[in-house]
Amino acid sequence: MERPIGIFDSGVGGLTVAAAIKKVLPGESFIYFGDTQHAPYGDKSAETITRYSENITRFLLSQNCKAIVIACNSASAVAYSTLVQKFPQTVILNVIDPVVEFVATVTRGKVGIIATRATIQSGIYEKKLLQLNPKMEVVSAATPLLAPLIEEGFMHTDISQGAIREYLDDSKFNGLSTLILGCTHYPLIEREIQHFFGEKVSVVDSPELVARKLGKTLAENNLKNPATVADYRFYLSEKTTAFSSVARMFFGEGINLTEQRI
Ligand code: DGL
Repeated sequence: MERPIGIFDSGVGGLTVAAAIKKVLPGESFIYFGDTQHAPYGDKSAETITRYSENITRFLLSQNCKAIVIACNSASAVAYSTLVQKFPQTVILNVIDPVVEFVATVTRGKVGIIATRATIQSGIYEKKLLQLNPKMEVVSAATPLLAPLIEEGFMHTDISQGAIREYLDDSKFNGLSTLILGCTHYPLIEREIQHFFGEKVSVVDSPELVARKLGKTLAENNLKNPATVADYRFYLSEKTTAFSSVARMFFGEGINLTEQRI
């Protein structure tokens, strides 16, 4: 129960999930791994993303983690089933299922998804949404520049606003009622995306939904930590200034970042 949760992403995106876990499950410690050396994942092949994900999972398990959260949609889309198969004793969560379950039950009207190429090409959101709600109208678009520009720290700039306009000013999004941010980097520019669409579109992101699902899953597996204080450790495969500044923004100045190759 006292062991930490392992959380990973290609870089800063998964910090949005880690921050929600800290808020929703304040007694849970975690070890975060950002694979900055290999970011972005979204343009890599399924084989490559799966190989990185497997190596990171092995590293996190070697650090005694009790559960793994794949805080990356691209890895959740292409590597989740392999990880579940290779680590059958470990509780593994992806970031896609909690969002699909939420949207399929509460949403009426047209749903849009924006994500990396790897996630969009996998078709996983459409498949899972339509399984739960066959009548749902779903449109999607790959927005491959958004994660790298966030990884480089260009949030809330003309660059991020220009890229959002370029990708989202598309007639396929006309009449949208809900937009899923299918990449854990995107909550860092959520305000800008919401501003582009206006209040009529509800923007759904994964961090809080994933944190709640994690709480439920830990309880079901008798893994919930009864502690009231938690410990957070951060590893990244290559130190970057953007990672340090986003990690400090969420977790304070005192955090410890360790470089770790995988
Ligand atoms: N944050 C990741 C995702 O949710 C990866 C983005 C990337 O590295 O391309 O897809």
